[in-house]
Amino acid sequence: MKASQLSIATCSLFFALTGVFAQTPPSDTTLTANPVFEKNCAKCHGKTAEGRHFGGPALISEQVAAASADELANIINNGKGHMPKYAGKLTPQEIDTLVRQIRALNKK
Ligand code: HEC
Repeated sequence: MKASQLSIATCSLFFALTGVFAQTPPSDTTLTANPVFEKNCAKCHGKTAEGRHFGGPALISEQVAAASADELANIINNGKGHMPKYAGKLTPQEIDTLVRQIRALNKK
């Protein structure tokens, strides 16, 4: 392989990798700083995720802390009561991130 070919290969690998990382939000982002939450969830669950009187319940609670990641993902995917379903509206990765961030908020 010539040096020029090698550098092209290295470059495309670099771009492929940054592409992958660009889709993964930094893990230290909290739920309330996640634009997906602000756009889709804050109107019911509140900007601080502590719930609103006429909207959704707090996402920081005993009940949420006791739920498994699967249960939370299920509620977000399929909805529950007045909670709309988000399967098809958000990507599985976005829902995954929300679940992780919700669980992080409930860790004491
Ligand atoms: C239209 C208002 C509304 C929106 C928008 C909404 N929710 Fe909800 N959410 C609710 C309500 C109401 C409940 C309670 C459902 C029940 O228990 O009957 C709920 C319940 C939940 C629960 C379970 C809480 C528990 O105590 O078990 C989670 C987790 C949740 N929502 C996450 C989200 C996320 C993440 C988003 C954004 C992608 C979102 N919600 C958007 C209204 C909403």
